[in-house]
Amino acid sequence: MKEILRKAAERFDKNKCKVCPVCNGAVCGGLLPGMGGIGSGASFQNNIKALADKKLAMKVLHNANNPNCELEIFGRKISFPFMIAPIGDVTMNVGGHLTITQYTSIIIKACVELGTFASIGDLPKVEPFESAVNTIQGRGKNVIPFIKTWLDDEFMKKLEITAKAGCDICGSDVDSAGLPGLRNCPTPVTLWDGKKLSEMVKKVHSFGMKYIIKGIMSVKDAEIAAGAGADAIVVSNHGGRVLDYTPGSAEVLPSIAEAVGKDLIVMADGGVRTGADVLKMLALGAKLVLICRPAAIAAHGDEENGLQKYFTIIKNDLLHCMRMTNCSDLQSVNKNILC
Ligand SMILES: Cc1cc2nc3c(=O)[nH]c(=O)nc-3n(C[C@H](O)[C@H](O)[C@H](O)COP(=O)(O)O)c2cc1C
Repeated sequence: MKEILRKAAERFDKNKCKVCPVCNGAVCGGLLPGMGGIGSGASFQNNIKALADKKLAMKVLHNANNPNCELEIFGRKISFPFMIAPIGDVTMNVGGHLTITQYTSIIIKACVELGTFASIGDLPKVEPFESAVNTIQGRGKNVIPFIKTWLDDEFMKKLEITAKAGCDICGSDVDSAGLPGLRNCPTPVTLWDGKKLSEMVKKVHSFGMKYIIKGIMSVKDAEIAAGAGADAIVVSNHGGRVLDYTPGSAEVLPSIAEAVGKDLIVMADGGVRTGADVLKMLALGAKLVLICRPAAIAAHGDEENGLQKYFTIIKNDLLHCMRMTNCSDLQSVNKNILC
């Protein structure tokens, strides 16, 4: 990975991401556009801290020597319980050598080969989103595009593009109204209330697609999403980019999973850097975990190979941590493996 990170650092705009040895938000508070967190960067750092504060209960007197980390979710089987999180404006935020279309093409290829989902983020205007979605090329069942909370016309155009590409799952980052860069954009993103969310869930379902609501940080919002008929939520503070001084997502995850885990699929992201972090998120109540910045950095450092290497390291670390906490499969992961 060292060589991959070195190449990524060479390719990045240093004012947008410094490619730190550990991606923890310590030096990139306020770097937005860029890879940083909003304002002081506290929300990004709280994601890291919330996971670091959890400890794994080591257990070795058992026979879980060869754990299995395959996951059945959304009606299909994936090789491990994590995937790459969406990034919208790759060029603006990273300032590297890749456009969103090139980046999407790389991550789809890598994720399909690895046997997990890829995702696509969203940015103002239809054309760049459409160009990124066009790289799906028959692999729609492996890709989850996330469409922001635009006014209806723009949202519907993007939804149609997503359906046409053969995707059967899409999502919305309903927290995107907090992104500083989108406040004054010609087609603004807005906040949705429960009534609006129910309307949008029906629209997405009318295309035969499942709908993931991303950006949930409270039990109240989770209950609204469940009541609106969403299929899944992502417990997430958008990597600390939409509101300063939120808790880490791992802090709020258990109460949210407890409240709505029986009604919909709970996913989570924020500060996940290792297989141990993935296992902690699962133990706290997530079924599927998203990883953003380090995965994007690996893809910028060495395209498909970079992302595949990084995800393989995370998978092997996850399997190691499962073995050392007596988890023979994902069904055996629960809060008792934390101490
Ligand atoms: C540069 C950048 C762009 C992002 N763009 C999007 C986006 O378009 N849609 C979205 O749902 N989330 C977006 N996110 C949030 C990530 O998908 C994810 O929730 C978050 O970064 C996870 O935290 P991590 O980076 O610590 O893994 C973006 C994050 C970054 C750093």
